[in-house]
Amino acid sequence: MVELSSHGLKALSRIIYETTGIKIEDRKLSVLEVKLRIFMKRKGLSSIDEVIERIKSDRSLFEELIAAITVNETYFFREREHFDVLVDIIKEKGMRSVKILSLPCSTGEEPYSIAIYLEEHFGKGLGYEIIGVDIDKYAVMRAKEGVYHKKSLLRLSKDIVKKYFFEKDDLYYVRPDIKKKVLFYVGNILDYPFLKRLGLFDFVFCRNLFIYFDKPKKEEALKNIYAILKRGGYLFLAKTEFLFGIKHNFQIERRGRVIVYRKE
Ligand SMILES: C[S@@+](CC[C@H](N)C(=O)[O-])C[C@H]1O[C@@H](n2cnc3c(N)ncnc32)[C@H](O)[C@@H]1O
Repeated sequence: MVELSSHGLKALSRIIYETTGIKIEDRKLSVLEVKLRIFMKRKGLSSIDEVIERIKSDRSLFEELIAAITVNETYFFREREHFDVLVDIIKEKGMRSVKILSLPCSTGEEPYSIAIYLEEHFGKGLGYEIIGVDIDKYAVMRAKEGVYHKKSLLRLSKDIVKKYFFEKDDLYYVRPDIKKKVLFYVGNILDYPFLKRLGLFDFVFCRNLFIYFDKPKKEEALKNIYAILKRGGYLFLAKTEFLFGIKHNFQIERRGRVIVYRKE
């Protein structure tokens, strides 16, 4: 088996951190090593030096490396209290149309959950545009397909599944008219010029990403999100992701058990 030096793993994790914000602690380098070995075997690469050299000049290979190391775990209606709060805010403000960003969207369950929630609560009474963004191009590919295993749908009632999916060969396909309303892009939360091109949003969902970021990268990402939110817009983070000790410009608003972050 090829020897992967801890020096080489550290150098690679540094490159990954600088570009994506994903911080791999030294004690987790063994996890990187396992994923890297699989990647190297698939790509016919024989040393970390070769990996580092190649990704410097081959963007597509770098994207594949990122896809190989990201954690894409997600499911429909994850932390659904956030979607209830979203509906409450839209009702309170009497909004007639909304633009929502799901970043990171992983394989699409989060943005499609938002679409289903909006359909259920507002039907044709609300215009909406939902954009899903993730750095992992394969996750985005799957999100665009909108085809899921039963496991991903466990939190959905039978009625919702019947209404928004059709089943074929044990796979669940998102209804085409819902699929059409959600756009997906490959992108990086630290790439501000890219985010700016998406326009301004009423709501940003950025859940279960900051667990992989350290303080400086969280602050950089929060600054970017702040800049692409409309005034009065809201940011949702996962319930376990707090911003203690992190510099940001948001107003913190508590709504029942949910904390949301508002741009004044
Ligand atoms: C655990 S999933 C979270 C998905 C969804 N938001 C949820 O809460 O279920 C984390 C995702 O973050 C993506 N990711 C990691 N670094 C990123 C970055 N710098 N920009 C955009 N997406 C990133 C990964 O590819 C992965 O799909």
